[in-house]
Amino acid sequence: MDRTSMSDGWMAQLDLQDRALAATSEGITISDARQPDQPIIYANAGFERLTGYQVQDILGRNCRFLQGPGTDPTTVAQIRQALQAEREITVEIQNYRHDGKPFWNRLSITPVRDEVGQVSHFIGVQSDITTRKLAEEALQRTTQELARTTARLKRNLRAAAKIQRAWLPKRMPKVKGVQFSYTFHPCEELAGDSLNVFHLDENHLGMYTLDVSGHGVSAALLSVTLNRWLTPTPGQSCLFNQRPRDLDQDEGVKDRHREMNPRGRKSHHTGDAETHRYVLTPPAQVLEELNRQFPIDPETGQYFTIVYGILDLRDHTFRYANAGHPSIVLLRLGRALPCPPDASFPVGFVPKPAYTEQTLHLEPGDRLYFYSDGVVEAVNGEQKELGTDRLLNELIGHGDRSVQESLTEVVSLVEKWSETGRIEDDVSLLALEIEAP
Ligand code: FNR
Repeated sequence: MDRTSMSDGWMAQLDLQDRALAATSEGITISDARQPDQPIIYANAGFERLTGYQVQDILGRNCRFLQGPGTDPTTVAQIRQALQAEREITVEIQNYRHDGKPFWNRLSITPVRDEVGQVSHFIGVQSDITTRKLAEEALQRTTQELARTTARLKRNLRAAAKIQRAWLPKRMPKVKGVQFSYTFHPCEELAGDSLNVFHLDENHLGMYTLDVSGHGVSAALLSVTLNRWLTPTPGQSCLFNQRPRDLDQDEGVKDRHREMNPRGRKSHHTGDAETHRYVLTPPAQVLEELNRQFPIDPETGQYFTIVYGILDLRDHTFRYANAGHPSIVLLRLGRALPCPPDASFPVGFVPKPAYTEQTLHLEPGDRLYFYSDGVVEAVNGEQKELGTDRLLNELIGHGDRSVQESLTEVVSLVEKWSETGRIEDDVSLLALEIEAP
């Protein structure tokens, strides 16, 4: 190759490099490492587009003129140290354009060595990453906001769960010859399940377990409202009916559950004109009243199931009605019998459900278990439900355990059965035992 053609080729290559450097959207700068303060000796058109500075105005200057009040001094120090150590470095640094507008610069600086290995130049490559950086900042702000909101919601949920738990019985009524026990495991902090046992009058205990469809806030709000409705406060709940005065004369004889008013006086007491008199509402009527008050919500589709019963402490007769709740189980002489009805409408499903009242004559040694569907509908890894039969077998095996132990065993059965080892639905159980003499 002759000299002219070599020179032509070399010129053509330089021209190509120039055009390539001018065309790239990245800024490219070269500084002289041997001169004091490493001045810029080259900047491409991309740098002009990026920063708004004209090349002729910045040649001979150190590139720090791009920095400003928002530039992080730590990043600047990292660059300084890398240059001193003659190391390559890549940083993201806030810079300012000629018009003062800030932008985010992804800056890579690479040392260039001469033939004897001395660093003669540094090449800087600048890219505008403002859009990505702003998006990241916005995301970070949103994440922080979300974390704050989540923390606030959690605090509120915990507070609400506390209020809900306050409706659970603190202790079971102490009644001679009858043992009560319950267990309550919400699957989330707020539960749709609820239960209670309480004195209605000196001879009668009322009790219920209920399960609002779904979980979380709306289920818990409805279950708390229902607790309020089922509070044994005459005049303020559906558990008592106001007694018409003209019935005072022939009270008691016809219906045992009309014998007492809830203040413990015999209902034939009529002396006090101010005394309102109440009679216990029969269980089926309680459910029918609830059905009137709580029709299914067409928007949320929320409804609930409930068993409500009244235990007569004198002869251990148990009258109850069931609205779509799992059947209560009677454990008697080593046999577990689910008590009808098995199929009845949950509360609010139909306008006139006609709930039926059932009566059990409990005997010494009998146990009654109430449970929510979270117990039998727990599914294992093969999507198989625990089922009623497995529960009944389990209960039969608990003959030698206390009522409380028996409930604890059922909960651990549900936990073991569940695929996740955790309780996935609200689980509540209530049990009573008529003690053997
Ligand atoms: C730089 N520097 C630099 N700084 C910056 O904020 N934006 C930039 O685009 C560049 N570009 C750049 C290119 C090249 C080739 C070099 C060698 C350096 C860094 C800047 O010039 C200086 O080195 C740092 O500010 C650290 O040194 P001081 O300011 O602490 O002395």
